[in-house]
Amino acid sequence: MIKNKRYIYIIIFTLLLIITHIIVHTYARIGILSETSIQFFIDTVIHKNIEYSQDYIRNHVPESSPRFQGHWLRLIKHYISLPLDGGYGSHKLALLAALILTDKNGGPILEMGCGYHSTNFLHQIAVNEQKRFVLSTDTDYEWILKFKTNMSSTLHQFRFINLISEWNGIGNDRSRWSIVLIDHKPGERRVLDIIRLVNITDILIVHDTETNQYGYERGLFLYPYKYHYTYLSTGTDIASKSNATLLQNIKHLLELTISMKIPK
Ligand SMILES: *[C@@H]1O[C@H](CO)[C@@H](O)[C@H](O)[C@H]1NC(C)=O
Ligand SMILES: *[C@@H]1O[C@H](CO)[C@@H](O)[C@H](O)[C@H]1NC(C)=O
Ligand SMILES: *[C@@H]1O[C@H](CO)[C@@H](O)[C@H](O)[C@H]1NC(C)=O
Repeated sequence: MIKNKRYIYIIIFTLLLIITHIIVHTYARIGILSETSIQFFIDTVIHKNIEYSQDYIRNHVPESSPRFQGHWLRLIKHYISLPLDGGYGSHKLALLAALILTDKNGGPILEMGCGYHSTNFLHQIAVNEQKRFVLSTDTDYEWILKFKTNMSSTLHQFRFINLISEWNGIGNDRSRWSIVLIDHKPGERRVLDIIRLVNITDILIVHDTETNQYGYERGLFLYPYKYHYTYLSTGTDIASKSNATLLQNIKHLLELTISMKIPK
């Protein structure tokens, strides 16, 4: 009887070794730390839900342990398809890190400039999962209509900007925004809104920062805590005036994507 049990354990152990070996090899080929993969494998094999990984990240940031990296990798794979899209979706990682670290109690989100990458993403995580308010805005009526038709609710509102001057009023109806995404048109407006929203924004995420064409520096200098993320071909900056720790923690998660060599 006892002997039989022992055989079963040996078989299970051998199987685990083989599976681990296959997984580690697959990941090694695409350049992710094998240690991370082992931990990732162990965590997923015990069937923890995705909230478990979110909690783990929130409770352990800014660790860098293989387990921490495994959970971060698991979240990236769950919410963003790999390889990462180096161009259009480069702000997704910053958004994901900010959404997870600010959580349900983080407050509302302002999206300036809609897009398949950000609007759908915010709808899925911020609205559906975290039950946070999102205001999505854009100067393209067709674009707004497309998203509004299937996503509009009391939690997710859409605003069409007809005249450029209307941007001046966007965001003024709330005393604070947890996250503000800057990705709107016309390009000259971006720095004006970065300056305008400085005192009511916890975390600012700015897209397309690989070029000087938007003159972002004129606004970003008002934010004492910043990080310039250049892992992907399109640059993304995160900035905060009020929350050094939060900025530091988002930066930590983004830097891990570089050291972990997340496929791009
Ligand atoms: C910074 O952000 C975190 C996460 O949302 C929050 O828990 C913390 O209270 C904030 N700190 C300050 C000083 O606002
Ligand atoms: C809503 O429509 C957009 C654009 O057509 C599409 O990409 C998205 O998947 C849809 N989302 C939902 C929740 O149906
Ligand atoms: C933000 O706060 C600073 C310091 O209180 C102030 O000088 C500045 O005018 C404010 N900016 C805006 C756009 O309200």
